[in-house]
Amino acid sequence: MDQKVALVTGAGSGIGRATAHKLARNGATVVVADLDLEAAEATVNEIVASGGAAVAQRCDVTDPQDVAELFARIEEDFDGLDYAVNNAGICTEVASIADYKLPLMRKMMAVNVSAVFNCLQHEVRSMRRKGSGAIVNLSSIFGQVSGPGYAGYTATKHAVEGLTKSVALENAEYGIRVNCVRPSVVQTPLMTGKDVHVEPGSDEWAAYEDANPSKRAAQPEEIAAGIAWLLSDEASFVSGGGINLDGAYLAR
Ligand SMILES: NC(=O)c1ccc[n+]([C@@H]2O[C@H](COP(=O)([O-])OP(=O)(O)OC[C@H]3O[C@@H](n4cnc5c(N)ncnc54)[C@H](O)[C@@H]3O)[C@@H](O)[C@H]2O)c1
Repeated sequence: MDQKVALVTGAGSGIGRATAHKLARNGATVVVADLDLEAAEATVNEIVASGGAAVAQRCDVTDPQDVAELFARIEEDFDGLDYAVNNAGICTEVASIADYKLPLMRKMMAVNVSAVFNCLQHEVRSMRRKGSGAIVNLSSIFGQVSGPGYAGYTATKHAVEGLTKSVALENAEYGIRVNCVRPSVVQTPLMTGKDVHVEPGSDEWAAYEDANPSKRAAQPEEIAAGIAWLLSDEASFVSGGGINLDGAYLAR
């Protein structure tokens, strides 16, 4: 990925951070975008300390002005994008639809769907100018199936799958590939911290692990590896679909 420029949204934590590291190790210059500037800067400092190239940008992906500024900087400083990973995502609540708080659903739609749509708009404009590009969207096993308490999150990830297909179809003739990845449970702050609140070592965590045929959660680096492959030239004819990074969860 030498001489290539990659954008990773939500790269201050979890899967995004691991992906930024992986792409930088593969030679790309990585634009690390996150709502949390300190977290983005921490990722950049780690990358630079290990010999890679990266820059941090604070960006709330739900704010069209922030997103426009992010892409203006990418055009100005790097002459456009080669790779994009639309990773920033949240799970605002795990609850029955009967009890789900509507404002939390709206917030999740804004981050997981509308913001991905807006980032895709800028990404394809930039990549069309360059004449090629590759994009990976973060779906989930819940882009294909669902589970109790996950109606809202499931709706957002099914939308990501639809966007992936549409944008891949529309842009194949421009040399732009668009795919998604479908992780099952990954040990990141989304699961263990502010969003879902399941502590590793707790009975609830054990239940999540037990629900997976591989009897464990994934580490973010295992997801980053799949994303990096989809972006790479090794996947040059892979577009419009997704790969399951789920320890066989979806095989049942
Ligand atoms: N962790 C899992 O089990 C799992 C499973 C399947 C899919 N995913 C998906 O993977 C992606 C990354 O999840 P993660 O587990 O690494 O989460 P995480 O909470 O560890 O990291 C998400 C990052 O996104 C940033 N972010 C949140 N809202 C933002 C916004 N509006 N603008 C910019 N940045 C914002 C956060 O600051 C954080 O740094 C999400 O799309 C998630 O839905 C996660």
